[in-house]
Amino acid sequence: MQPLADSHGRVATDLRVSLTDRCNLRCTYCMPAEGLDWLPHEETLTDDEVVRLIGIGVGLLGVTEVRFTGGEPLLRRGLPDIVRRTKELHPSPEVSLTTNGLGLSRTATALRDAGLDRVNVSLDTARREDFARITLRDRFDDVVAGIDAARAAGLDPVKVNAVLLRGINDGQAPELLGWCLDRGLHLRFIEQMPLDAQHAWQREQMVTADEILDSLAAHYDLAPAPTARGSAPAEELLVDGGPLTVGVIASVTRPFCGSCDRVRLTADGQIVNCLFSRDESDLRTPLRAGADDAELAELWVKAMAAKLPGHGIDDPSFLQPTRPMSAIGG
Ligand code: 5AD
Ligand code: SF4
Repeated sequence: MQPLADSHGRVATDLRVSLTDRCNLRCTYCMPAEGLDWLPHEETLTDDEVVRLIGIGVGLLGVTEVRFTGGEPLLRRGLPDIVRRTKELHPSPEVSLTTNGLGLSRTATALRDAGLDRVNVSLDTARREDFARITLRDRFDDVVAGIDAARAAGLDPVKVNAVLLRGINDGQAPELLGWCLDRGLHLRFIEQMPLDAQHAWQREQMVTADEILDSLAAHYDLAPAPTARGSAPAEELLVDGGPLTVGVIASVTRPFCGSCDRVRLTADGQIVNCLFSRDESDLRTPLRAGADDAELAELWVKAMAAKLPGHGIDDPSFLQPTRPMSAIGG
């Protein structure tokens, strides 16, 4: 086993796999209304290719956790089968999913049966009208049905990811937390990051972790959660004595790059060693040219060795990565 180590003392064990860059929502902080130029079919890894690369990560490179993302991963028809084949790898990794929840009401049971361990559903507001304003689609009820189905299927915990946007839902943190507590859901707020396709992100507009925690503390009793944070990006707090928690992922104001254990594989077979990396390493071309597992593992190790120490958002020379988040995987 060769670890995915970089030159700053970190080892990646958490693999994020983007299964498609397409999405059926248009969250304004992510994509333009008209969508993007989607990856052509022939450049997208097949199910077999995805499972082979995950197998190399798990079998040769010390990957212990696999999270499927997008775009919207439920748009990938073969998802339950990919999950099942991933769970069958040796040693079997933890497998989770980050989804916008559309269609989850129909697939939650199949995913659970395939071995899916956990799911995170993105939901930024508990108000139908604001959901439509943020996502440009009137699909709030479908997302709620998806969350309910995930719980009913026994996926546990179900976590909700929320992004707050100035002037739209920035005052709704306590309300959304109340909504999640009523349903037994763990809520995490994510600071908005400069990863939108439109490059419209502005630091001054961002709702900060401090601001979110202050507004929550006015309504709830928050205490540090007993479990150690480790490499997890969320700072977790017990709400009103627990057992439910609320978390804040302060990627911008309290970066956690020093303990990052992640690596990303895009839907077209590129290794991205950081969400903010402007370089990527192509595994698809050698894979299709007949490279064996050891050769692909070697390229992957090289890609990780070059990981930079931090995202540098606060550096005046900071440049957004060429790919938006929807094409890298969250
Ligand atoms: N900043 C922070 N979070 C984002 N997400 C998408 N784009 C951004 C961004 N620019 C969130 C989604 C989803 C997860 C994959 O990342 O809302 O919850
Ligand atoms: Fe789709 Fe997620 Fe982007 Fe929203 S944030 S448009 S759900 S990929």
